[in-house]
Amino acid sequence: MEVIGIVAISLDGFITQGNKPGSAFTSAADKVWFSQILETFSAHLMGSVTFEAEREPITRAARNTSSKLRLVFTRSPRKYHSLAKPGRLEFTDEHPAAVLRRIRDQGHERVALLGGGQIYGLFLRENLLDELWVTLEARVFGTGTPVFAGEHRKNLNLIEVANLDPNTLLLKYKPE
Ligand SMILES: NC(=O)c1ccc[n+]([C@@H]2O[C@H](COP(=O)([O-])OP(=O)(O)OC[C@H]3O[C@@H](n4cnc5c(N)ncnc54)[C@H](OP(=O)(O)O)[C@@H]3O)[C@@H](O)[C@H]2O)c1
Repeated sequence: MEVIGIVAISLDGFITQGNKPGSAFTSAADKVWFSQILETFSAHLMGSVTFEAEREPITRAARNTSSKLRLVFTRSPRKYHSLAKPGRLEFTDEHPAAVLRRIRDQGHERVALLGGGQIYGLFLRENLLDELWVTLEARVFGTGTPVFAGEHRKNLNLIEVANLDPNTLLLKYKPE
């Protein structure tokens, strides 16, 4: 099973513009690319803060019985009991490696890790990412949520570069 981290960042490495939740700052080109690429993953993993920023569309999508799996990391899964739909919208405090083993055994082959900073940091630290796909927007925020929470000493290899539009780069990396 492949686990791909997908993130859009400012030039100074933030995934939010200041304290505004969500990633509305991204270019139109990234929004088109991102919505198309998400369709190619059978499971979308995220932290509870990222879930809360997209709560309405995610819970709406999960009502559809053919929905993909959305799995939300939280230390309080009981808090979300009334929203949970097994196989479509799940809330968990399991270790990420145990989650990945479980969903691999359920037949998932391509998993998208959708952040945010705490969860990208957790997966990077635990060496659970096969690739990291970064949309680099030509914007500077000065403040915001850093892409990887915590301290890291990781090296990655750049494996692909593409322009999504003249100001927007897509960079694909493999952690060493
Ligand atoms: N630009 C982008 O591409 C992009 C991508 C994703 C997100 N974002 C934005 O980034 C912001 C969120 O990032 P964030 O770093 O603040 O939060 P986050 O990573 O989305 O979620 C953090 C939450 O995950 C849960 N969590 C963390 N470690 C855990 C563990 N070991 N086990 C179980 N649960 C764990 C905790 O939930 P509980 O508090 O419920 O316990 C924690 O509060 C949002 O504004 C979002 O819209 C931007």
